[in-house]
Amino acid sequence: HRTVKVAPSILSADILRLGDELATIGTADLVHIDVMDGSFVPNLTFGPNVVRACKAASSIPTDVHLMIENPDEAVGLYLKAGADLVCFHWEAARHAHRIVSQIHEGGARAAVALNPGTPVGCLEAIIEELDMVLLMSVDPGFGGQRFIPSTIDKLQRLVDLCDRHGVSPWIEVDGGVSATNAAEVVAAGANVLVAGSAVFGAPDREAAITSIRKAGHL
Ligand code: DX5
Ligand code: ZN
Repeated sequence: HRTVKVAPSILSADILRLGDELATIGTADLVHIDVMDGSFVPNLTFGPNVVRACKAASSIPTDVHLMIENPDEAVGLYLKAGADLVCFHWEAARHAHRIVSQIHEGGARAAVALNPGTPVGCLEAIIEELDMVLLMSVDPGFGGQRFIPSTIDKLQRLVDLCDRHGVSPWIEVDGGVSATNAAEVVAAGANVLVAGSAVFGAPDREAAITSIRKAGHL
């Protein structure tokens, strides 16, 4: 069977009670922090200080998703803030290979995120360096959007690409994931599931995490 990691996104948490909110997701594998700069995506959210605060409040490893222009310049701030995994967008990076090296030198795991319209082929030259690939299954910017069905075929193309290179990075899917579609997403090759509204919109967060993990347990 496959082991699936669940990464609740604090984008859908009650941000003024963030410490209490983190305490409700104790069984999560990662805490997904959506950094948005109001330019790469229309929305504006958190910066390095929130990553630092999450590290101080919780022992869950941080999965920092940078939806920002010019990650080349900003990545150092997130490493200094204690990010355990730093994920930047291919579409925004100038020198992806250099950013990956910087992340590794900073002692974190490195990941590249692809928008729904970006083909997986752009990863050919860099896939062997990556600890994770994030496939966006919605257009980035907001929580609570509908899962884009073509993500399933794209996951399979990513798995093929990884197989050809003989590597098996974590494969994360982000956007519109819930217990309803977790099985399909995992069957197509994902093993890290981001869930914002499906976890923080539920009255019992631990139950929500467990039901997503169980649904993805093939
Ligand atoms: C979207 C963010 C996602 C978002 C997911 O731009 O990158 O991480 O928080 O939220 P849900 O799970 O509600 O689609
Ligand atoms: Zn995200």
